[in-house]
Amino acid sequence: MLLYPEGMVRLNESAGQILNLVDGRRSVAQIMFDLRQRFPDALGWTTTHWLLSRWPMPSTGYNLKPENQPGPPFWLLAELTYRCPLQCPYCSNPLDFNQQGEELSTMQWIEVFRQARELGAVQLGFSGGEPLVRQDLEELIRAARELGYYSNLITSGIGLTEARMAAFKEAGLDHIQISFQAADEEVNNLLAGSRKAFAQKLAMAHAVKAQGYPMVLNFVIHRHNIDQIERIIELCLALEADFVELATCQFYGWAELNRAGLLPTRAQLQRAERITNQYREKLAAENHPCKLILVTPDYYEERPKACMNGWGSLFLDITPDGTALPCHSARQLPVQFPNVRNHSLRHIWYDSFGFNRFRGYDWMPEPCRSCDEKEQDFGGCRCQAFLLTGDASNADPVCAKSPHHEVILAARIDAEQATQAIDALTLRNERNARLIAKAR
Ligand SMILES: C[S@@+](CC[C@H](N)C(=O)[O-])C[C@H]1O[C@@H](n2cnc3c(N)ncnc32)[C@H](O)[C@@H]1O
Ligand code: SF4
Ligand code: SF4
Repeated sequence: MLLYPEGMVRLNESAGQILNLVDGRRSVAQIMFDLRQRFPDALGWTTTHWLLSRWPMPSTGYNLKPENQPGPPFWLLAELTYRCPLQCPYCSNPLDFNQQGEELSTMQWIEVFRQARELGAVQLGFSGGEPLVRQDLEELIRAARELGYYSNLITSGIGLTEARMAAFKEAGLDHIQISFQAADEEVNNLLAGSRKAFAQKLAMAHAVKAQGYPMVLNFVIHRHNIDQIERIIELCLALEADFVELATCQFYGWAELNRAGLLPTRAQLQRAERITNQYREKLAAENHPCKLILVTPDYYEERPKACMNGWGSLFLDITPDGTALPCHSARQLPVQFPNVRNHSLRHIWYDSFGFNRFRGYDWMPEPCRSCDEKEQDFGGCRCQAFLLTGDASNADPVCAKSPHHEVILAARIDAEQATQAIDALTLRNERNARLIAKAR
């Protein structure tokens, strides 16, 4: 119960838990962190932009009332660079990652953080490419802390050292997420395109734990590692992970190029779900702190994901050259997106063409326009609609009501028949990017 001079309100349980933490000492970022520690299963407290794209989050109201202004961009993803020492064939980065403009400078990034914070952003992810390639990362982390962000380093672990990790901690980094390619050294290194990757990741995962960061591991799951799911979970338990993201591959960028060799079969997926659920039950019965999050691929569903909880509703991505996007894969759309070098973030978020292009419902053609589910899924993912139907306004073809749903059905059949080995996948590297550009 909350009493105030003119009356009182009875708080529901969630509101009560939140208000208990509002003590005048904790920052918003600290409150978010504490809530996440207490309620790790709560929707919305997920750890990467991938999960943002998968699960519903509290609505900002914009999509329910398109005539109103959208709420603030709570989650800022800073893709600091597209440079990366690894070569994952499932990488969601653009195929032409090597042809982007100059990277933002340290001061330009800090200005982006400042403006986003002013708009209301509270969580800042450092990603890429490999963010550790940036030698100014410590300075950027320090600036994020001073601005009051909850900050998260999303990394492959390559380029990390114990000393650097300690410096990041001292600068105010809240959270490190390390991605692995597989539980098996050989498969991991084949997929990463590096013979040293697995050993380095293991060493850094141990160091994350030793330095007292929350321990978050990420595995992108596809047909070449999904049958290892027990070994992956066992490895995470051995590393004392607090959160494990088993994120089935989403098909953008290099993953889209390699889709035929990456999409698991339905049977593989069902087995992985069954085993993950068995582990979840076992861990819950033991009161074990580790939380397993399995993000399933929408290719086996009949309704699309509520992508980013609606276009331009809570997520803001800035690419290495300063292009602002409503999701990390939107760059491939035939839409003009603004750049932070030329416009303020306030203008970009509220007034730019790119951020308003798919807000609300007026842009929708049928069948979405008259569909009574449009407020739940916003017609699905615009990038997937564009990649699979050639028109970004179409209903996401994952939807069984879409006239293009047969492309998804065909992909499922292809997955049953695929024979592509790991070494037939196209690795994400500069040479392949050049060859692809030449062939187009
Ligand atoms: C693009 S990476 C950049 C950060 C860093 N280089 C890394 O790999 O961890 C950001 C996150 O997205 C994940 N990821 C990359 N491609 C993906 C895909 N196609 N589907 C799902 N997750 C993906 C990575 O595993 C990582 O957790
Ligand atoms: S997913 Fe792999 S290739 Fe892509 S940025 Fe991360 S480590 Fe590099
Ligand atoms: S028709 Fe459009 S709005 Fe309706 S469920 Fe399918 S994708 Fe969603």
